[in-house]
Amino acid sequence: MDNTYIELKISINPKIEDEVSAVCFERFNCEGVVLAEEKYKDLEMVSTTEGTLKVFLTDDSVKDIDEIKSVLKEEREFLKLQGLSDEELGSWEFSIEEKENEDWSKKWKENWDVTHITDNVVIVPSWLEYTPKGKEIVISLDPGHAFGTGTHQTTQLCVKAMEEYSGFKTVADIGTGSGILAIVAKKMGADYVYGCDNDPDVIDVANENAQKNNTECVFEFNTADKITNTFDFVCANILHNVLYEIMPDLKRIMNKDGKMVLSGILDEKKDVVLKAIKENNLKILKINHQDQWISFVVANA
Ligand SMILES: C[S@@+](CC[C@H](N)C(=O)[O-])C[C@H]1O[C@@H](n2cnc3c(N)ncnc32)[C@H](O)[C@@H]1O
Repeated sequence: MDNTYIELKISINPKIEDEVSAVCFERFNCEGVVLAEEKYKDLEMVSTTEGTLKVFLTDDSVKDIDEIKSVLKEEREFLKLQGLSDEELGSWEFSIEEKENEDWSKKWKENWDVTHITDNVVIVPSWLEYTPKGKEIVISLDPGHAFGTGTHQTTQLCVKAMEEYSGFKTVADIGTGSGILAIVAKKMGADYVYGCDNDPDVIDVANENAQKNNTECVFEFNTADKITNTFDFVCANILHNVLYEIMPDLKRIMNKDGKMVLSGILDEKKDVVLKAIKENNLKILKINHQDQWISFVVANA
């Protein structure tokens, strides 16, 4: 499915955009989500309960409408059991349409702008010009199909943690996507930065982005269990259930007095990660929130 993608449209209450997005990233391996315009029209005062989440799928396996139906039914039921009402959820009625890939890449490129993650770190789409102010770290990026434009809360929580705990010399970025966190770490002054991802397709993207920014990072198609080095700082912006599974390896690759930021966690799923933190005898140094996302900075207890 090289030149086409599936646009899945789901009718939701815009208030639970993050929850439904997380379901789509987790269950459909989707490439991106956009909440259609209704939310923005009413952003000021009128709260709408009707929105459409557009989900971009490039994975052939989810073309099966019955599978989509049963996944959405199961996840909606789950949220109902957590106490959300039908109104709070929206109907989750959905439709799918096959589209040309070109449209999608153009569309998000038009919508993606310069992102000031912190006062010092700015992410600039590689096709835009930007003049740095003061000591700003400017990263020029084209994520292609990889995750990591810098606009997502989970990425921003990692950058903020790296700023708060700067001074590291070696960094591992597990689930590097576009390479954004690795490149930021290098620009912050790290001597050696290693990034890996279990998606082989993103490694070229990460390498190209490092090159664009004149940074030297080592990117590999790899998972934490196969890493033998240890690092001063570990970034892991991956979904809560993956964090739970790989926590022993994340701990193992962190230096004795190293630190690690765990992100990619919806507030309502934090208990899964807290359990892993406890089971692996880690201590929490800092908890940060952004919208419905939460991150933990941890160290050895
Ligand atoms: C949410 S994205 C984060 C991308 C980027 N680091 C950022 O912060 O914007 C998560 C990335 O982790 C990768 N991933 C998922 N499970 C993984 C695993 N077990 N080991 C390594 N990478 C994984 C995905 O392919 C994806 O690129």
